[in-house]
Amino acid sequence: NTQTNAQKPKILVARAIFPEALAKLEESFEVRSNQADQILTPEELKKELAGVVGALVTGSERIDAQALAQAKDLKIVANISVGYNNFDVPAITTAGVMATNTPDVLTDTTADFGFALLMATARRITESEHWIRAGKWDKWSIVNNPLGMDLHGSTLGIIGMGRIGQGVAKRALGFGMKVIYHNRSRLSEADEKACAASYVSKEELLRTADHVVLVLPYSAQSHHTIGEKELALMKPTATLINIARGGIVDDLALAKALREKTIFAAGLDVFEGEPSVNPELLKLSNVVLAPHIASATEKTRRAMVDLAIDNLRAALGGKKPPSLINA
Ligand code: DGY
Repeated sequence: NTQTNAQKPKILVARAIFPEALAKLEESFEVRSNQADQILTPEELKKELAGVVGALVTGSERIDAQALAQAKDLKIVANISVGYNNFDVPAITTAGVMATNTPDVLTDTTADFGFALLMATARRITESEHWIRAGKWDKWSIVNNPLGMDLHGSTLGIIGMGRIGQGVAKRALGFGMKVIYHNRSRLSEADEKACAASYVSKEELLRTADHVVLVLPYSAQSHHTIGEKELALMKPTATLINIARGGIVDDLALAKALREKTIFAAGLDVFEGEPSVNPELLKLSNVVLAPHIASATEKTRRAMVDLAIDNLRAALGGKKPPSLINA
């Protein structure tokens, strides 16, 4: 490539990405990159977006009118994430900018992780490991070992039955679980059949499920979908798994329910105000904590970066990006 940097379009890569992917981008673009991976402040983000034609960002970067205030040349903002609650889509559209996300490539990896978290939570795996490391394992015991809850033969309730929710449901079939779900809209008969899932109201799901998995997108409408009132409907033997977004669950109300054992346990990959975790949750042993890693496998994170780059290249090449949000 004989283009000098001066002739290349400028793009921003707001967070660290795989070095090979960055090197490839540098062949076609003048790249402002952030391999130090520090989260940019809103002021820094606004400055970095000024003068670039495209940007690769993550869920940690809030893209709104303020961030776009000086982004006069921007044509595309490509999220390296399927969820895009970090985007103010109307503001992005008003600014004449295309917005994209990374669906499909992470569905199975995220559904796998939902199951991993469910099993770790129901069978008390991390708690057991802490117990061993603390030197507390002195004998095999019928009653004085960490006793958990079964998955097989139980009822799994899924709230949010999009691609990932359906992936969780399909895995549950192999575990001999009965699947019920709640979603904004009911699935087609064929899709319900494919995951052997029955539609119920949110209240019925919370009352009857042995395990509840949350996989719905975050929005003002889904804020605190699970709060004190909803937790009170759940069985004392039930587990709650959140692989969706912080803010879907009222973490303080959850900590109270776990402390008072009105539910059995929770497995959380996402938190309100992450990477901070509510200190009340940190005090409890009946909660499994993960640092927002549901999509974190080598292969999938590479696929997410590659899809975001495909979106960016398509938009800058005058084509429709494969996962355009604001069509
Ligand atoms: C996603 O893709 O939405 C993951 O939660 C990472 O942000």
